[in-house]
Amino acid sequence: PLRAVVFDLDGVITDTAEQHYLGWQRLADEEGLPFDREANESLRGLSRRESLLALLGDREVDEATLEEWMTRKNDYYVASLADMSPADALPGAVELVDDAKARSLRVAIGSSSRNARLVLDKLQLTEAFDAIADGNSVERAKPAPDLFLEAARLLDVAPQACVVVEDATSGVDAALAAGMVAVGVGPQDRVGHATFRFDTPADVDLDVVLAGGTA
Ligand code: G6P
Ligand code: MG
Repeated sequence: PLRAVVFDLDGVITDTAEQHYLGWQRLADEEGLPFDREANESLRGLSRRESLLALLGDREVDEATLEEWMTRKNDYYVASLADMSPADALPGAVELVDDAKARSLRVAIGSSSRNARLVLDKLQLTEAFDAIADGNSVERAKPAPDLFLEAARLLDVAPQACVVVEDATSGVDAALAAGMVAVGVGPQDRVGHATFRFDTPADVDLDVVLAGGTA
């Protein structure tokens, strides 16, 4: 039987996907890199470094420049979190976490972000989770399974007994690679390869997931 739900953070619990995008867009504008909202879609869920490398395309820059650009984008991103409050949780997200807990499932965060704890603190949700695996927890980012396997380890639950809720292609890939049930939130072309797909976090129906996942 399924025993735990591991939630991605950015794009599932809160819409920081937008703030990440704005941070990258500002850096891209400053450095004359071609970038737009559509190009950003492929960055969803990627680590900070992978995001910048994807944004750079064929352009080659040295390591010091990479570091400076990652830091600058992160500074923009962190500054944009200043006014974040519990009201910035996505509709239905907290209810979904509570629903999982009401069903005696354990709950964790599995986020590639090094800012995950900061965001959770702003949302006043740090205490809501039994475990937090974030960008500081493992070396290999999604689509590697490591982050979700670390969340399962922290929860002391077998990977096959875990459900992952994800908004990103790379995150669904990571969940499936970990041997977990993948619940995608978002459009078919982004998360259609998940075990189950819903349009938004508010649409996720754990009755459907648990019935399908316990066969
Ligand atoms: C999440 C977001 C990505 C972000 C990554 C790293 O996966 O979806 O957009 O690039 O975390 O976040 P960080 O806050 O460490 O730069
Ligand atoms: Mg995400």
